Amino acid sequence: MSTTGTVRLPPGVTGVHALPADHHDGPWDSIITPPGLKERLLGQATLLLRHGRRLQQLSGAPHGLVVLAGPPGTGKTTLCQGLAQVVALALARRGATTFVEVDPHAFPSEMLGESQRAVRELFTETLPELAQRRPHTIVLIDEIEALAVRRSAAAFETNPVDVHRATDAALSGLDELRVSSPNLLMLTTTNFMPALDEAFLSRADLVVETALPDEDVIAGIIRGSLTELAVQWPGLRPLAGDAGLHGKLAARCAGFDGRKVRKAILSALAQRPDLAEDPERLTAEDLVSAVATAAEGPRVGT
Ligand SMILES: Nc1ncnc2c1ncn2[C@@H]1O[C@H](COP(=O)(O)OP(=O)(O)O)[C@@H](O)[C@H]1O
Ligand SMILES: [Mg+2]
Repeated sequence: MSTTGTVRLPPGVTGVHALPADHHDGPWDSIITPPGLKERLLGQATLLLRHGRRLQQLSGAPHGLVVLAGPPGTGKTTLCQGLAQVVALALARRGATTFVEVDPHAFPSEMLGESQRAVRELFTETLPELAQRRPHTIVLIDEIEALAVRRSAAAFETNPVDVHRATDAALSGLDELRVSSPNLLMLTTTNFMPALDEAFLSRADLVVETALPDEDVIAGIIRGSLTELAVQWPGLRPLAGDAGLHGKLAARCAGFDGRKVRKAILSALAQRPDLAEDPERLTAEDLVSAVATAAEGPRVGT
């Protein structure tokens, strides 16, 4: 996605994009989810962005907060990026959507009071200002546990006072944001839900847990990966259409996360220089051996 303009981005913000953007339907379609999950995500996002102002009048108004939690490599970030595009498309008739990416690691905690101040600024100045620009705004904060550290379980040596203050600032900031910017949807991800502050989690309107893929999903990811390769190298179409092969490979990928499955398939092309030179030479045997190598784990020197 292209960043709009060349202006310097506010602190903590790593990208600001206008959606829908052409050719960005890929991420949403690329992630295989249990039935109903995408509809639920799209429903939540549409309700909030379309009717945020009216919902604000209700007692128990939504916070406009969605949390995706699950192991690394299970598609959380990709789903959020995809959701931003599909909901922006669905609402395009009513105006464009601003997609803002925030890096929670960008708030320094070395200086006392510094991260608290920066987090406060993000929620009370930066995001409300960005939300003024277009009728809909989606903010993605990846690995939110860096910002909303669970205060109850956190030891003070590992989580200095300032980190706790930053969590407090994030919570009160979220409450203020809900009032100042009702048409703002905040998508957050975490690899480790127990590290996330309970009060933050309780503000979520929807918590989605992503799991490691089962054998059928892995077979689907393999089919998807090979199909994408076959778009670039049409000679690979027979491999992309070989469901028996996908099943056989999937059985050997037990325990892999989605990212590892995709990397294993891609690594098959890099096994030999001649194959790398001409990927259309890829065979079923190459795929089987690449998956077996990936299952053995990373190679540690010689
Ligand atoms: N369920 C899935 N279906 C298809 N691809 C997946 C799935 N889970 C992960 N992937 C792939 O793994 C890679 C990493 O996904 P990502 O969204 O970064 O995961 P996370 O944010 O959970 O660490 C992406 O290329 C994605 O396409
Ligand atoms: Mg991620």
